[in-house]
Amino acid sequence: MFFEILTLFPESMEGYLGASILGRARDKGLVRVKITNIRDYALDKHQVTDDRPYGGGDGMLMKPEPLAAAIRQALPGRVLLTSPRGVPFNQARAGSLTGYDKVILVCGRYEGVDQRVIDLLVDEEISIGDYVLTGGELAALAIIDATARLIPGVLGGEDSSAEDSFSQGLLEHSHYTRPREFEGLEVPEILLSGDHARIRSWRRMDSLRTTLANRPELLDSADLTEEERTWARSIGWKPAG
Ligand SMILES: C[S@@+](CC[C@H](N)C(=O)[O-])C[C@H]1O[C@@H](n2cnc3c(N)ncnc32)[C@H](O)[C@@H]1O
Repeated sequence: MFFEILTLFPESMEGYLGASILGRARDKGLVRVKITNIRDYALDKHQVTDDRPYGGGDGMLMKPEPLAAAIRQALPGRVLLTSPRGVPFNQARAGSLTGYDKVILVCGRYEGVDQRVIDLLVDEEISIGDYVLTGGELAALAIIDATARLIPGVLGGEDSSAEDSFSQGLLEHSHYTRPREFEGLEVPEILLSGDHARIRSWRRMDSLRTTLANRPELLDSADLTEEERTWARSIGWKPAG
């Protein structure tokens, strides 16, 4: 899968993209990443990429011409604009991005981009959360990271992502490793029992408990058995509606 990132700050991205799992995926040729400097597509000799907004207001906007030219040279591909106004990015969206051969990620700066570039060239505006970053680079990295790890072969084991949080509509269960006792806290006995059915059931309950504590709204659309619904109610879940 090929990601092309369009940014005014290419130097801010290479370190992350070259490290660990993503770096190895690139080395293995499973993921290709190209970083394109939008400034290279500026028309004037000073390579200006921003301008004042029509109608007044604080801050500057990314000028349409360099950005449009940078996007056009990257086509064909699915064009995503990182934006706090976008649709929320989530695990399901990461999964569907793996269906594209090429994804082009546009990193905004300043107050954002001229709307006409969005109207002409952007397929989707995507937000990584309800907060405002100074630029789209972190958002683009988050989108690439979450998408790339779903490509077969990128993680060590083929199903390493299958039990992650959100994959089954719930947050993931807690994990423990050695030592058995750490600063007075013991690993739950059941995880040492070797009884896989009981371990599976403990993990499922732990997953329900964590989801209820941190993201109770996820339980409303999770695929729960009647027994699990009864148990979740007994520990404080109040289903919507
Ligand atoms: C300072 S922000 C612009 C915010 C814009 N004026 C607004 O209120 O919607 C600059 C750039 O950072 C990126 N950005 C900021 N927050 C983001 C978020 N939550 N998700 C994705 N991209 C974001 C976008 O590319 C945006 O164009």
